[in-house]
Amino acid sequence: MLQDKIKQYTEEIEQFNPQTSADVENFRLKFLVSKGIVKSLFEEFKAAPADEKRVLGKVLNDFKQLAEGKYQQAQEQFGSTGQVSQAKAEGDLTLPGDGFTLGARHPLSLVRKEIVEIFKKLGFIVAEGPEIEDDWHNFSALNFPPEHPARDMQDTFFIKKQDGNDIALRTHTSSVQVRLMEAGKPPFRAIMPGRVYRNEAISARAHCFFHQVEGLYVDENVSFADLKQTLYHFVQELYGEGTKVRFRPSYFPFTEPSAEMDISCTICKGAGCQLCKYSGWVEILGCGMVDPNVLENCGIDSTKYSGFAFGMGIERITNLKYEIRDLRLFSENDVRFLNQFQTEII
Ligand code: PHE
Repeated sequence: MLQDKIKQYTEEIEQFNPQTSADVENFRLKFLVSKGIVKSLFEEFKAAPADEKRVLGKVLNDFKQLAEGKYQQAQEQFGSTGQVSQAKAEGDLTLPGDGFTLGARHPLSLVRKEIVEIFKKLGFIVAEGPEIEDDWHNFSALNFPPEHPARDMQDTFFIKKQDGNDIALRTHTSSVQVRLMEAGKPPFRAIMPGRVYRNEAISARAHCFFHQVEGLYVDENVSFADLKQTLYHFVQELYGEGTKVRFRPSYFPFTEPSAEMDISCTICKGAGCQLCKYSGWVEILGCGMVDPNVLENCGIDSTKYSGFAFGMGIERITNLKYEIRDLRLFSENDVRFLNQFQTEII
């Protein structure tokens, strides 16, 4: 009897409790395909006596809905057929995992860290300041005369004028010197890493932003000899024992006397190569004794205190260390470049 069969299968379906996606598939094959039970019961229904058809038709339709509903529910639980979903349900540990790549520190961060570590051992603290500066901290307090060309639009990104005061992106980290000295009392012994901006056309050798580390030491009786010895030590630590240094007279508004420091070429060791333009020397930083005007501008008695300052571009130091010849590589974020610096895991 059709009705008995429906009752029996209804019980079976109600008790159906799949454990794997294979069970779900077997259910479909048994009940729902064109030669399955649901279809065959509909075939039988055609032959049923006419007076039973009304009641039986409803029972059969309910049964069909039950079978389809159960299948849909089971499918949601296990996904459709196939290897991957089966693995998902059962947690197949033999499937290959999703790969992921480890990040690496940016070469500029690596070198900045190295520079900071060397000076920390000499008792320098790390100080930082804002990248958006006013005229006072970037220029005036640092003894730049009002008509100095560095204030010119060609070098500086000006943001807006406020009450006649220019607001600009700092052109060097020397502005942090001023902030540090204004905020405290000597002695000062600090290094100041940070990003700086200059209005220059971007090429292999120049960029509109780069990174500097500035150093400042102010105390009683600080001399040029202290400056030389500190920087000599720094170079030995960074580029290795035996690296030679030389100082050439130079000019900065905020130091007097001023100098530029060269080191023996790290590539050819002084023999002459393309990098050092066959001179055997490469310039790495500017330095000098803090101009007494700067000390006074920051409220420090220049008859009692003296100091030295130096500033270097981190890109330049990094180029010499890793022989990088195009500044643009530092900001392009090309992983083929960055992956070469997997020196430590973050
Ligand atoms: N601020 C100078 C520059 O950007 C570098 C410098 C710093 C020179 C401190 C002397 C002393 O070129």
